[in-house]
Formats: sequence, C-alpha cells, structure tokens
Amino acid sequence: MYKTIIRGAKIIDGTNSPEFESDVAITATGRLKLLPPGTKTDAKSEFEAGGLFLAPGFIDVHTHDDTNVIRTPELLNKISQGITTVIVGNCGISASPVTLKGDVPNPLNLLGEKKHFIYPKFSDYLRAVESAKPSVNVAALIGHTSLRSNHMDDLFRPASESEIEAMRLQLRSALADGAIGLSSGLAYDTAYEAPKEEVMELVEEVAQAGGVYTTHMRSEFEPILDAINEAFDTAGHKDVPLVISHLKCAGAANWGRSDEVLELLKERSIEARFACDCYPYSASSSNLNLKEVTDKNDILITWSQDHPEQSNRMLADIAEEWNLSLMDTARELMPAGAVYYCMSEEDVQTFLRYERTMIGSDGLPNDPHPHPRLWGAFPRVLGHYCRELKLFDLPEAIHKMTGKSAKEFGLKDRGVISDDYFADLVLFDFEKVSDRATYQTPDQPAEGIEKVWVNGVLSYQNGSKECGRAGRFLRKESGN
Ligand code: ZN
Ligand code: CU
Repeated sequence: MYKTIIRGAKIIDGTNSPEFESDVAITATGRLKLLPPGTKTDAKSEFEAGGLFLAPGFIDVHTHDDTNVIRTPELLNKISQGITTVIVGNCGISASPVTLKGDVPNPLNLLGEKKHFIYPKFSDYLRAVESAKPSVNVAALIGHTSLRSNHMDDLFRPASESEIEAMRLQLRSALADGAIGLSSGLAYDTAYEAPKEEVMELVEEVAQAGGVYTTHMRSEFEPILDAINEAFDTAGHKDVPLVISHLKCAGAANWGRSDEVLELLKERSIEARFACDCYPYSASSSNLNLKEVTDKNDILITWSQDHPEQSNRMLADIAEEWNLSLMDTARELMPAGAVYYCMSEEDVQTFLRYERTMIGSDGLPNDPHPHPRLWGAFPRVLGHYCRELKLFDLPEAIHKMTGKSAKEFGLKDRGVISDDYFADLVLFDFEKVSDRATYQTPDQPAEGIEKVWVNGVLSYQNGSKECGRAGRFLRKESGN
C-alpha cells in the first residue's frame, strides 16, 4: 500500500523534458512510483492537485546554512521556497571541521558566533545535523578557509608544506566520512594569500574521494578572466569537477563583460566537467569589505556591530549624516554587513540563461537584515525570470534547480521525478509563484508554493509556519 498518491498534477520531472500527466505515488520508504492517471490503488492519503505543477524539490546548491540546519532546523526560509536540499560549506567556509584558536575569522563569521563552532570533526557535525532533524536534506562541502584556520597561526600568508599536509589529512577524513567536496573563497583576505598550488594539493584529496571543487573565485571584478583560468587550472590539476560559485561580473568597470566571460567558460569547459551557480539578483551581499567601498554603485548596510541602528540604511546617507567620506564611514561601521548593488541586470540575465548555470541562493541566514535571496531566490527565478521575462521555459528553469544540481553534486536518487527516486517534491501554482522578499523587507515567504514533501513526508503547506522535520544528511554516494 502506498503512503500517499498525488493525482491530477502536471509533472515537470527535472530532466529538462516537457511536462506530462501522471499520478505520483509515494511508497512506504519515501520513494516515488509513477502510475498512469486514474490508476486504482490503495493509499493512506490521496491528494488531488487540480492541475498545479509538481516538480522535484529544489536543491539550493549554494548556502551558508551550516549551523542554522542545527540551530533553527525548521528552516522556514528554505522550505517555503520549495527547497528540499541545501548544500552547505560554500565559499571556503564550513562549520566543520573547525577548532577555533581565537576569534572567528572573516568570513567564517557569516556562519555564526564563536559558540556555534563546536564541531572539531566532520563526523561531529554530521551527527549533530542528524539529531537536529532539519526540515530539508543537507549535503556538505569542506571549506579551504576553515582548514587554513585550523592549522595556521596567520592566515595572511601561504600555508607551509607541513600545514598543507595537516589540511590534507583533515580533508581526507571528512571526505571519507561523507563530505561531497571542497570549497574555496579565494577573494576573501583570509584565503587570498593562498597560491593556487596550495589548493591544488587539496584537490588531490578531492580527486581520490570522487568529490567536487567549488570556488568563490579570487576575483569577480576586472581580473575575472584570470580568476576563471585559475579555477579551471586548479580543478584540472586532477580532473575534478569544477563549480564556479555565484558567477557574476562585479563592479561598474566590469559591467557588460558577461559575453566575454561566457566565451572563456565555453572554451575552458570543452575538456572539463564544469558548472556554475547563480542567484537571481543584481546585488551581492557579504561582510562589509573596504575594498568594495565605492561611489560607483549603491551600498546598503545590513548590520553593524557598533552601530546597529544603521541597519537597512544606505552607506551614502550615513556618510552624509556623519559628514564623513564613504571610506571613513565604512571604517566606523565595521565589523558590518552590506548589500552591494554591483551588477548589471543584463549580465545577470546572461548568466542565468547559460546552460551550465544552476540556481543557488547564497542566502545569509545570520544577517539580521538579510539580502532577499535568503527567502526569495527560487520563486524569483520561476515567477520573475521564467513566467514574466521568459528567460527560459519552465522545464529548463526547474532543471537548473533540480536534476542538473543533483547530477553536478553527485546527490544520488534526488532531483528527478522518476520511479525509485526519493520523494522530495514541490507542488506550485505557476500563475501565482513569486518572491515577496525585498531589500527593504526581506523576511517574506514566497507566494504560490503550495505543498512540499521531503523524503515522502508532507513538510510545508502554503502559509503555514509549521514544517515537517524529515530531512536527512546526504553522505556522498550513499543515497540516504
Ligand atoms: Zn561567496
Ligand atoms: Cu557564498
């Protein structure tokens, strides 16, 4: 007997194929079985979808939810978008394995405060996620910057041979325990001094384990082409699959170069396994960085340790009020968080449309005034970019959030609606789906996401604040 049967939905299966009609049954073990419409069966619960679309649950390939999947396991900001799996540990920062020596280094502090870093081994982290029972599945990358901070007393220099050896051992053990790969954040000051040879040595471990290498490249500004070449050289050292994180042309001087970037990506990817992720907004967000302070684009302050009252105000307005330069104002506010309106909309659309692009939110759940991508990224792709702007058709939009993502990151039996795949599902109203989160009011669940199942358990219903807690830790290749 089936647990649930969903009838009358239009199926978009995640493989970039056209929609079709089918009844979809969920087995007792939380797997899928497709049945011809109207098949008579026994099921504990039967649900009539009334022509809404049913897709595989969305996979957020770029998140910083490392500690949040444990601390706030409901993850309403994710499941309310139809997300059923998050990949944590991006941009060189993972919550494990981490043993802090002092303060939390930049940008590891995006993941939480000192008291939240309590996982010296990856297996500690994995067990903590399992006992927290988050609403969504979790797969984890290991951050290069996290490894550096474990083994180096000074992050503003290259690692020595013995430090690299220590990082390798730690990475090897995390990969053996089920981490899916390595991430780097070479643009950040705490990894910038690492030469590519340092990362290449770690990539050797990733190759041994069959993992992926993802990178927040050394630059997304004018030197972006050099940074892309470095990323391909690093992964290519051992033919490891490469994922370039949040692909963008950042900074006014770099606008309009997306075609040039794509040309290089196409050329370099001929002999490489390569994909990238992208969030559907023309503003970025991270810690406030003096190197990115400019009068060429607007900057919104999202938090400030010493001046919390300046949250949700423009840097330029604060500077005017304080009668200081932008730079001095930024210095005064730090440590702080910012949204940088640093991209051209045209470049964003070019990258979103690119066939190798997957969707990742890059949401920052610990920011008190987060970039709206935290709550809105996936519905915004469906509503704004697919339905309104017709940047791509619906099967392609869904593919970029599901089947492609599962394949690139090696998530077994996920991301596709097909027999025996896990029953991670989202039912949505394509006419209504839209993001409601804005830069001013970012904590807004989306519209049009009607029901979400995780591992066969109905885990979210539109408007509800309660979430199921059926997420699992996805160890590499295990399919659990
Ligand atoms: Zn990043
Ligand atoms: Cu990131």
